[in-house]
Amino acid sequence: MAEYPELRGKVVVVTGGAAGIGGAASAQFARQGATVAILDRDGQAAQDLAVSLTTEGLHAQAFRTDVTSRTEVERAIGEVVLAYGQIDILVTTAGGFWYRRTLLEIDEEEWDAIVDLNLKSVYLTCHAAVPHMLGRGWGRIVLVSSWLARGAPVHASLHYVASKAGLIGMTRQLARELAPNGITVNATAPGVAWSPRIRQLYDDTTIANLEQLIPQHRISEASEHADSILFFASNAATFITGAVLDANGGGVMP
Ligand SMILES: NC(=O)c1ccc[n+]([C@@H]2O[C@H](COP(=O)([O-])OP(=O)(O)OC[C@H]3O[C@@H](n4cnc5c(N)ncnc54)[C@H](O)[C@@H]3O)[C@@H](O)[C@H]2O)c1
Repeated sequence: MAEYPELRGKVVVVTGGAAGIGGAASAQFARQGATVAILDRDGQAAQDLAVSLTTEGLHAQAFRTDVTSRTEVERAIGEVVLAYGQIDILVTTAGGFWYRRTLLEIDEEEWDAIVDLNLKSVYLTCHAAVPHMLGRGWGRIVLVSSWLARGAPVHASLHYVASKAGLIGMTRQLARELAPNGITVNATAPGVAWSPRIRQLYDDTTIANLEQLIPQHRISEASEHADSILFFASNAATFITGAVLDANGGGVMP
């Protein structure tokens, strides 16, 4: 793991921070000496991770939050600010899809649910957190998109791909808006990574096919995408904003 002493003492909010890529990011930020607010719909998993990190002498706290609910997001961000006085870094990882769907298989209700989870939730979280980042001349926002929004040659779900592509537009526009305030906004575009959801979503044949398709011939670890997130938050990325970091084993080269 790279060492970023500049992250020590920073207050980091990670949505979906209890498991998968978000869970790896929460743990890595805590190991760099940051204070991590784990916002996750699965309150028990968030609590378990926070306890395991604090047992190591690190700083983390769980905030049970469904990021699709404006009320819950605003409450959680309010509680983080009450507890720590500031937010330095915001990472929006909560998201995903659970079934592969084509256009005619998607009804309006499911479209709204997936777009709310993957796109609107990021607006809600940024809308609640950014006022606490302004006026201090420094901040970092990292959104988590997907290789599926970068042209990966696999069948995915239309609503999910549209949402993750929307995040890339959001990254660029928000980067422009917040640059005068010293806040950078970047996105990671992970390829397939082992996570609780991916283990349920893909069967062995699909995994084998994906491994065949990816030049590195493997599924990545969630921690490899946490590495991208920490890079954007670090002083190694001070002049980078509005960028997308593709980490996909060569599976797509946009
Ligand atoms: N794993 C992959 O292959 C992969 C690839 C590209 C992008 N991504 C993206 O990375 C992110 C994390 O996915 P993953 O597969 O690593 O982890 P995951 O989906 O297994 O776990 C994500 C965490 O998010 C939480 N979560 C889900 N819905 C939530 C909600 N409404 N409010 C708050 N928390 C919620 C879950 O409880 C869980 O702890 C997602 O945005 C996903 O789209 C993942």
